[in-house]
Amino acid sequence: MNQATDEPVTRTAARPEPRTLAAFEAAKGFMPRDEGLALYAAAVEAGALGLPLLEVGTYCGRSTLLLADAARRAGVTALTVDHHRGSEEQQPGWEYHDPEVVDPVVGRMDTLPTFRRTLHAAGLEEHVVALVGRSPQVAAVWGTPLGLVFIDGGHTEEHATADYEGWTPHLAPGGLLVIHDVFPDPADGGQAPHHIHERALASGAYTPGPATGSLRVLRRR
Ligand SMILES: C[S@@+](CC[C@H](N)C(=O)[O-])C[C@H]1O[C@@H](n2cnc3c(N)ncnc32)[C@H](O)[C@@H]1O
Repeated sequence: MNQATDEPVTRTAARPEPRTLAAFEAAKGFMPRDEGLALYAAAVEAGALGLPLLEVGTYCGRSTLLLADAARRAGVTALTVDHHRGSEEQQPGWEYHDPEVVDPVVGRMDTLPTFRRTLHAAGLEEHVVALVGRSPQVAAVWGTPLGLVFIDGGHTEEHATADYEGWTPHLAPGGLLVIHDVFPDPADGGQAPHHIHERALASGAYTPGPATGSLRVLRRR
C-alpha cells in the first residue's frame, strides 16, 4: 500500500500479449511465470509516466520481452543493460552454466545473439534498445529519467550494490524500483539482492509494494 494515499503500489492486472507470453515461456532464462506477470504489471504501470523502462541483466531476453511488450503498450522504450559475458554463477563449471551460449571463436559466453533472436521472434525488436557494457559504466554516463528500474544483473554484493547506486538516482518520482531474487532467508538464496532491497526501504525514499516470489516492487516517493 502507498501509506500516503492508501492506493496499492501496483493497480493493474494487465497481461502481456499471448505471443509475448509464449515467447517468454520458450526463452532461456531464470524468471518463473508468476514473477514475470508481476514484472509486466509493474512495467505497464510505470509506463504511464511516459519515461523509459530500464532493466539491468538482459541474459537471453526472457524478462526483456515483458518490458518490451509493456513499453509498446505505453509508447515508451525499454532499455536493457548487459555485457553478455554472464554472471559468476553462469560461467563454465558453475550451477547455471549453459554451454549453448558460449561463443566458440572467443571461447567465452555471449548471450547477445540469443537475446536478439528472442526479441526478433516475438516481434518486439523496435521497442528495445540494448546497451552492451558493464552496468556501472553505462549508469555513470546515463542522463535521462527512468520510469522503472529493474535490477537483475550480477548477484554479488559488489554488483548488486553498484547497480542500486548507479541506477536508482535516475528513477523519476513515482517510478518503480523492481528487484529480482530477494531472499530474506539465506537458505533460499544469495543475500545481495535482499540487502539492496533492505537498503531501499531504510532510505525512506520508497513505498513498499507487492512481493511475488522473489520479486519486489517499490515506488519512489
Ligand atoms: C540473472 S541473469 C539475468 C536474467 C534475465 N533478467 C532473465 O530474466 O532471464 C544476469 C545477467 O546480468 C549480467 N551481468 C552481470 N553482471 C553485470 C554487470 N556488472 N554489467 C552488466 N551485466 C552484468 C550477466 O551477463 C547476465 O546475463
